[in-house]
Amino acid sequence: CGIVGYVGDNKSLEVLLGGLKRLEYRGYDSAGVAIIDPSGHIDSRKKSGKLQMLVDELEQHPIGNGATGIGHTRWATHGGPTDRNAHPQLGDNGKLALIHNGIIENFYDLKQDLLAKGETFTSDTDSEVAAILVGHAYQETGNLTEAMRVVVDKLHGAFTLLVMHEDEPGVVVGARRNSPLVIGLGDGENFLGSDVAAFVEFTRRAVAIGQDQIVTLRTDSVEVTDFFGNPVETEEFEIAWDAAAAEKGGWSSFMAKEISEEPEAVAKTLLGRVVDHKVRLPELEPLGDDVLANIDRIVIIACGTAAYAGMLGKYAIEKWSRIPVDVELSHEFRYRDPILTERTLVVSISQSGETMDTLMAVKYATAAGARVLSVCNTQGATIPRESHAVIYTHAGPEVAVASTKAFVAQVTALYLLGLHLGEVRGTLTEEQIAEYSDELVAIPEKIEEVLVASQSIGQLAHWMTDTQSVLFLGRNVGFPVALEGALKLKELAYIHAEGFAAGELKHGPIALIEPGQVVFVVVPSPRDPDSLHPKVVSNIQEIRARGARVIAIAEKGDAAVLPFADEVIPIPLAGSLFEPLLAVVPLHIFGMELAAAKGLDVDQPRNLAKSVTVE
Ligand code: G6P
Repeated sequence: CGIVGYVGDNKSLEVLLGGLKRLEYRGYDSAGVAIIDPSGHIDSRKKSGKLQMLVDELEQHPIGNGATGIGHTRWATHGGPTDRNAHPQLGDNGKLALIHNGIIENFYDLKQDLLAKGETFTSDTDSEVAAILVGHAYQETGNLTEAMRVVVDKLHGAFTLLVMHEDEPGVVVGARRNSPLVIGLGDGENFLGSDVAAFVEFTRRAVAIGQDQIVTLRTDSVEVTDFFGNPVETEEFEIAWDAAAAEKGGWSSFMAKEISEEPEAVAKTLLGRVVDHKVRLPELEPLGDDVLANIDRIVIIACGTAAYAGMLGKYAIEKWSRIPVDVELSHEFRYRDPILTERTLVVSISQSGETMDTLMAVKYATAAGARVLSVCNTQGATIPRESHAVIYTHAGPEVAVASTKAFVAQVTALYLLGLHLGEVRGTLTEEQIAEYSDELVAIPEKIEEVLVASQSIGQLAHWMTDTQSVLFLGRNVGFPVALEGALKLKELAYIHAEGFAAGELKHGPIALIEPGQVVFVVVPSPRDPDSLHPKVVSNIQEIRARGARVIAIAEKGDAAVLPFADEVIPIPLAGSLFEPLLAVVPLHIFGMELAAAKGLDVDQPRNLAKSVTVE
């Protein structure tokens, strides 16, 4: 869910709706706002559906603009996406409004208690329980911050709560446990948001709030305490993105813009980190080179697209540093009683830095004594705060729900890590480091070429709007690319898609091949002497013999695939490990184009949210 809070001038509505628009990628089942209007009363509007439904509702039934307000865009967990389950939820006879992100795990028991005391509920949400409890606590304490403190003590689970009360106009109180919340510092106004995108339009000064902390926001002050009321030191940081970076510009969708930014995402992630053909990662200092030299295992944890970036990281890191690497989905890792020692380096990957599954896995790993390094794209996010060190990807804000430019930036960061490990462990020579880092530096320009060469994919997608199933094949580093291609198609075009390791084809998936079945094949370079090129070409022949329609992504000038492929999408020449950074781009474009050709919302696919802050 996305959360915005504001205390300042009489422009709450504008700030809240602007912030919600920027946070809509966090959930778009329903949206709502509450404002303390100039007469001092809470006025609230909420609507199921995308944010535009709320905007329409506000046009039909306007509310007075006030100086204090909260807004919410929801990804439903408890209670379906209906108007009444949308946030804000009210308490204290409508004098209090509350919004919530996360899940209150003990809400059922709390609700039974409240029902027994004669309370009535207007929604099926866990959040309304919190609203009613804060209302009760306010009656007892007469102070909103104090009331919040009383209530957070009773809640189990993960939450960010924002609350305001008619009797304390000019105040918004926020609390966070595991769910995200960031403060924006303005001049005579202050902001709260799930992430900095909420308020970057108004200020670039931000403060991250730690776990189990409460913030009391007023026009001229921001107080942060822990759950016991002790003041907490906070640190201000400057938001590196400018507001325009999170705008669509002239593009048809955020995704179209973000795919076009893939070269820049790689280039910025490399910026200052490859100097004189050497890798420089000062951000690893908190881990210490001696620690890195002694680790005996790496476990990469991530979800979704980030996990596929992790799989590519495994190939490069193992090859360059000779450290065994496992890649695991965060939610599987966390509950498996994994074996971790102080010599295990856990590397988490998350664009948002908020994915709850990954956050919980990070916390688990640190508690178990492992060293944790995070690869993250969002400043002020929770996962970097919970890690020993962080390599930021500098892909810029990614707004489209399905990840594209963050993926290439994550792979780039992992490759830099692999090279650094190769250096500190002495498994790579200076020449090798120079050669591979130069390869990385050359990637942005090559992606530009792929973008140009991929213009025909729109046509291909147009012909395929009735396709029911698409398969993706790849071997070695082509395998994660195949998985990523399939995921994009599922996410964006709602088409059943599977990615397979090409070698596995004969062990089962080949039974799926029937005449007309579309299969994308990621073909490795024929130039590499160890290349699996001949094997992949054989695989293509096997499926062609059974009637498959083959779309090959192959190196420019690869004559061997031409006779067997129905379409060839050419990519520039690159070293084997680097090809995925090129081969993935046409697949990103294909997913987007097919979704667009089917008339679907490319940026906000059904049922998904960009940053899933529940487990
Ligand atoms: C969600 C998104 C995916 C994303 C995954 C991991 O499921 O829909 O596109 O890959 O989360 O997100 P993260 O922010 O942790 O990289």
